[in-house]
Amino acid sequence: AKTRHFKWDVEYIHWSPDGEESVVMGINGQFPGPTIRAKAGDTVAVHLTNKLHTEGVVIHWHGIRQIGTPWADGTAAISQCAINPGETFLYRFKVDKAGTYFYHGHYGMQRSAGLYGSLIVEVGEGEKEPFHYDGEFNLLLSDWWHKGSHEQEVDLSSNPLRWIGEPQTLLLNGRGQYNCSLAARFSKPPLPQCKLRGGEQYAPQILRVRPNKIYRLRVASTTALASLSLAIGGHKMVVVEADGNYVQPFSVQDMDIYSGESYSVLFKTDQDPTKNYWISINVRGREPKTPQGLTLLNYLPNSASKFPTLPPPIAPLWNDYNHSKSFSNKIFALMGSPKPPPQNHRRIILLNTQNKIDGYTKWAINNVSLVLPTTPYLGSIRYGINAFDTKPPPDNFPKDYDVLKQAPNSNSTYGNGVYMLKFNTTIDIILQNANALAKDVSEIHPWHLHGHDFWVLGYGEGKFSEKDVKKFNLKNPPLRNTAVIFPFGWTALRFVTDNPGVWAFHCHIEPHLHMGMGVIFAEGVHLVKKIPKEALACGLTGKMLMSNKHN
Ligand code: C2O
Ligand code: CU
Repeated sequence: AKTRHFKWDVEYIHWSPDGEESVVMGINGQFPGPTIRAKAGDTVAVHLTNKLHTEGVVIHWHGIRQIGTPWADGTAAISQCAINPGETFLYRFKVDKAGTYFYHGHYGMQRSAGLYGSLIVEVGEGEKEPFHYDGEFNLLLSDWWHKGSHEQEVDLSSNPLRWIGEPQTLLLNGRGQYNCSLAARFSKPPLPQCKLRGGEQYAPQILRVRPNKIYRLRVASTTALASLSLAIGGHKMVVVEADGNYVQPFSVQDMDIYSGESYSVLFKTDQDPTKNYWISINVRGREPKTPQGLTLLNYLPNSASKFPTLPPPIAPLWNDYNHSKSFSNKIFALMGSPKPPPQNHRRIILLNTQNKIDGYTKWAINNVSLVLPTTPYLGSIRYGINAFDTKPPPDNFPKDYDVLKQAPNSNSTYGNGVYMLKFNTTIDIILQNANALAKDVSEIHPWHLHGHDFWVLGYGEGKFSEKDVKKFNLKNPPLRNTAVIFPFGWTALRFVTDNPGVWAFHCHIEPHLHMGMGVIFAEGVHLVKKIPKEALACGLTGKMLMSNKHN
């Protein structure tokens, strides 16, 4: 195994993700940031310098469990202090498991500002993937707004709420087309044909293939908001990996991918080789007001400028949730994957509601809307400093709460308490969805857990009840780090608290997290060794470090 070093500068740059020039958060002058490639067992060392003029920054390595390095998780106010302008922080961590991952900013809404990139872990030296392929591609999916992330933050924190609305453009590897379409002659509503020479920053990244081969397509979604449907015109996809874990292969025409998820699919180039084909992404789960994102599957030796004769794939209807559920229900762990313990030690039920607090629109979990403290939890818990609400948040919600009724609105509170989890125990989480503030509205929320993979034991409709436990899949539940709750439904997860640290668990929709949709878990923090000082040089741990110096 190797240590792979990277020297990164984070700074604002002018960039045209979709043909409109914007200010984007770039790394080493690039958007999206550079792709990290490593082998399982390697150590990744990113020397990150903050070249922003007036704001802090952190980077989270999404899907990497940070076993033994909780201070490298890159979550501001949770695992570390934000890195100040001009300062350099070393993220040094082991990538222990092959898979498709990504990284992104985790301070304020810096992910929405474009701070993200891909992280790909290949199998270790001498190891093999449990499937064969001749070539591979990687697509990082995102959504883009023309309004800057700072203004979006202010809008979301205002009373009355100014909602950010739907994205202007969907991006594949940071490339999209605003106000035009590559497939103009098929587009409804009509859009002008995009004029591209091919050298533009926003020119689509074309996937060049040879006939009769098998390709692996890695995809990950770092969208701020959008749930997406991905399809390759005329080609079937066989899903083989989800969030860095192998799954029982299954074949689909189109697939749903939510923010925070990653997959690998295999496809065979077995279609008419004289043609090219579309690869498309579409918005799902919210009424789409954003044109479909497109790129080309180019069969060589055809010219890439030869347009497909077939129209781009038509996505399932945005509110066809049965289609989404049937996809989620096809995902099982590959035989031989680790199985969940048969019993839990503790069950935490988390009710997701939209609320008002003093007129401000928020999201709350068991009636608590998360506001992060000024001292990172990892340091304050490790050193026994009182820096957050010591009263733990509730494990459940009132029995008589009707999840199908409009949320009552002004009884929620802000909080930053922590779920203290006993080390090496089995925890069940039931994510319970509910009606939001508006009547008959319940949204999809993709929940992401840091520091762990969890088993997805099942999904259900309405309010979770004790008799649903019988339906849990304990035989071959998939291991994931992100799972959705469907409108008016629940999702059951299980994980083992075997990784000392403080871990965020939150909705991966950036504006929802900003509005309080998350909780904090802490486990075995007393076992955490030598947290680098630079990670704690703020708030009360900063003070502690200063006074230690004088002793
Ligand atoms: Cu990818 Cu806490 O997020
Ligand atoms: Cu959400």
